[in-house]
Amino acid sequence: MCVIAAIFTLLATLSFTTTNASDPAALQDFCVGVDDPYSTVFVNGKFCKNPKRVTINDFVYKGFNKTSVIENRQGAEATLVSVDQFPGLNTLGVAIARVDFAPFGLNTPHLHPRASEAFAVMKGTLYAGFVTTEYKLYETILNEGDIIAFPQGLIHFQLNLRNTTAFAIAAFGSQNPGRVNVASGVFGTTPKILDDVLTKAYQVNRTVIEQLRSQFSSGKDVSINTARSMLLEMLSQI
Ligand SMILES: *[C@@H]1O[C@H](CO)[C@@H](O)[C@H](O)[C@H]1NC(C)=O
Ligand SMILES: *[C@@H]1O[C@H](CO)[C@@H](O)[C@H](O)[C@H]1NC(C)=O
Ligand SMILES: *[C@@H]1O[C@H](CO)[C@@H](O)[C@H](O)[C@H]1NC(C)=O
Repeated sequence: MCVIAAIFTLLATLSFTTTNASDPAALQDFCVGVDDPYSTVFVNGKFCKNPKRVTINDFVYKGFNKTSVIENRQGAEATLVSVDQFPGLNTLGVAIARVDFAPFGLNTPHLHPRASEAFAVMKGTLYAGFVTTEYKLYETILNEGDIIAFPQGLIHFQLNLRNTTAFAIAAFGSQNPGRVNVASGVFGTTPKILDDVLTKAYQVNRTVIEQLRSQFSSGKDVSINTARSMLLEMLSQI
């Protein structure tokens, strides 16, 4: 009897673990399904190199020691080494970045849709924090040798508190963590999000929205009039 009970317990445990499986994680922003198998199909990730042709060089990336040139007014540059720069990471579920800070530089509020992050300060003193889905801010000051964890998908930032350069290394639990800057995701889109959406969302007038947009305009700028006429065209098709 006891043996039978043990077997039942074992079976119950096994069925629990197998039914607990989740969907495979997305490695890109989206993957729209196709009916036509002859259309161009992309895989969720990358193709694999023939293992017979793989060498140690496929697992080595060089140049991570190079300080990034900081070209933005915020004063910090994150240089990501993900599967796109380092194909050897394909299917391994990890990526790494270096973040260089100018004096008082800011790594702007952003999130990674596909990965949690461990962020290690190698040089300098940084004010860092993240915000939960309840809008609670967790914040701290980090010195050289300190590591902070940023949970997947939550908005976070780091600010250099000193008048010297700073430098950190960030590790991610995805080969393609992705990055969404909060300000650019609202004020730097292509095409632009209509004024009517942003004035209502932020409870400010058009002048304020225009000013914010001008700070975050993307390279491929589409004028608000074009955005408006695109909306009118969409309306005409309903
Ligand atoms: C980075 O390391 C390479 C060797 O892998 C070396 O040639 C190069 O000078 C180093 N660059 C810096 C900025 O230290
Ligand atoms: C930062 O350092 C620069 C150069 O040493 C100096 O000119 C500037 O006044 C300093 N700024 C602050 C806020 O300490
Ligand atoms: C827009 O709002 C700003 C800030 O409240 C204000 O200074 C400005 O006068 C307003 N502009 C218009 C056209 O209402």
